[in-house]
Parts: sequence; structure tokens; C-alpha cells
Amino acid sequence: MHVVHTIAELRQHLQAFRKPAFVPSMGNLHDGHLALVRQAQPLGDVTVASIFVNRLQFAPHEDFDTYPRTFEADCAKLAEAGCNLVFAPNEKEMYPEPQGYKVHPPAELADLLEGHFRPGFFIGVSTVVMKLFSCVFGATPGGVALFGKKDYQQLMVIRHMVRQFVLPIEIVGGETQRADDGLALSSRNGYLSAAERAEAVQLSLALKAMAAEVEAATDLPAARESLEARAMHTLARRGWRPDYLTVRRRSDLQPPEAADAQPGKLVLLGAAKLGGTRLIDNLEI
Ligand code: PAF
Repeated sequence: MHVVHTIAELRQHLQAFRKPAFVPSMGNLHDGHLALVRQAQPLGDVTVASIFVNRLQFAPHEDFDTYPRTFEADCAKLAEAGCNLVFAPNEKEMYPEPQGYKVHPPAELADLLEGHFRPGFFIGVSTVVMKLFSCVFGATPGGVALFGKKDYQQLMVIRHMVRQFVLPIEIVGGETQRADDGLALSSRNGYLSAAERAEAVQLSLALKAMAAEVEAATDLPAARESLEARAMHTLARRGWRPDYLTVRRRSDLQPPEAADAQPGKLVLLGAAKLGGTRLIDNLEI
């Protein structure tokens, strides 16, 4: 596995290939990332991962400075998972001057849910992903990029960006990887104390309980707000601070209408703080 730190070296390495399969990351890798790397391998002729903690997607009060940087361990895991090339730029390489040009995803997709609670988050994500795509795919006819479904809205924002800018990149979603108790794997799980870690699975259990209520509802649009409120209340009683637990259409993340209450059309999404850690999860139903 080669590790490169500059865009020039990256492009030089990629000259020998026609179809990179690319997994972007911010490092501190867990089995969710490694599953994406394994999924990537048959999809391209070279498997590339990036490690870059992107300041642009963090608000000033968020955890940019303390976000775990575990470069050596990440590289060992990537090599083991079959990655061929790691692109690990520093901040000067990615942002040699203030990033004046930014990608602003449409409000109807990016200002709700995560975007509502983390204003500017999807501008930061879309901008760095566009830039990473330019670095990785700029020297090839196109390729494939993989994103985990745990960040459901992120995956959707990136899919729309690629479609609207007609980028020659296929976007592939990877299933959420879970710990034995059902907690969705996340780099931020490492912030949890032992007691919080034991409690953390309740977010996915709350989504499962909501799924049962959604499936039983005879008039989903009428029942939606009260079943969402009940789910938030259940978590709040256990000491969580929920941002949202909600039923949405998979197609556009808007609240469902009666015709959407069908198998394959809905997704439940949740975000809640447990102590100082904000966790997100979702469940397609
Ligand atoms: O999902 C992540 O780790 C990040 O948002 C991404 C896509 C690597 C952009 O920084």
C-alpha cells in the first residue's frame, strides 16, 4: 500500500489506472470504513482511501481539535483491508488559501435534519468531497466512490451533487456496520464512557420501536408527529438530549404522505446527545 500526502503524488500514482474505487474518510477508522474498503475492491482497478479531518465541516464549538487522529493505526487497518493507496493531505495541501469557492447544496435537502442542527455542515462536506473527487478522479476517466449509509443524509447530498454536476463518478452506499448490541459503528463512539456505551444502543432501539409503530399506523401522516414525540420522550426520560427522531421519505427526506406508507419508501432517522457525544442512526423500513 502506498501512502501519499500531496495531490501531485496522488495523481501521479493514479495515472496507471482507469477506474479508482474511492473511500473518503476522516480517519479514526472502524469496521464500517473497512467494510467500505472491502466493498470497493471489485468495483475499480485501484482502491484509494483518503484520511483528512476537514475543518470546513466543523462548527467552532464542535470537536475539530479533539477529533481523534490515529494515522499509523488507520494505515495498518487499511493495508489489512486491501487498500492500495492512501491519500493523507495536510491542511495546507487541501486548503493552501482560504476556500472561497464552496459547494452550497440546495436548502430543501441540506438545511433539514443534520443541516438544521449543524448549520453549514453540508457545505463543508460537499466542498471537501468535490475537492477530493477532483484530486482522485481528475487524472482518470471516472470511477466509483463509497459512503456509509449511517450518514444517510450525507450520502443523499453527495448523490445529488454528483448528478447535478454530471461528475463521472458512481456513488455506492455501504450498509451500516453495528456492534454486537446493535450500536451503529462511529468514530465518535470512542468518546462514550462505559456507562454511556451501555446506554448508546437505545438510539437504535428507539428507531426499531418507531418502525413497529409506523408499520401499525393506519394513517401515517396523522400519526407521525405523535409517534415521533413519543420516541423523543422515551430517550429524553433516559437522560438523552434528542435533536430529532423522525419518519421521512427515502427519496427526498421530506415527511411522508399517505401514498408513501409502503414497503421500501421510508427511512427513520435519529440524532441525540448522550453526555457530551452526539450520535446519529437510521433505519430503512
Ligand atoms: O463521512 C465522513 O467521514 C466525512 O464527512 C467525509 C465524507 C470524509 C468528508 O470529510
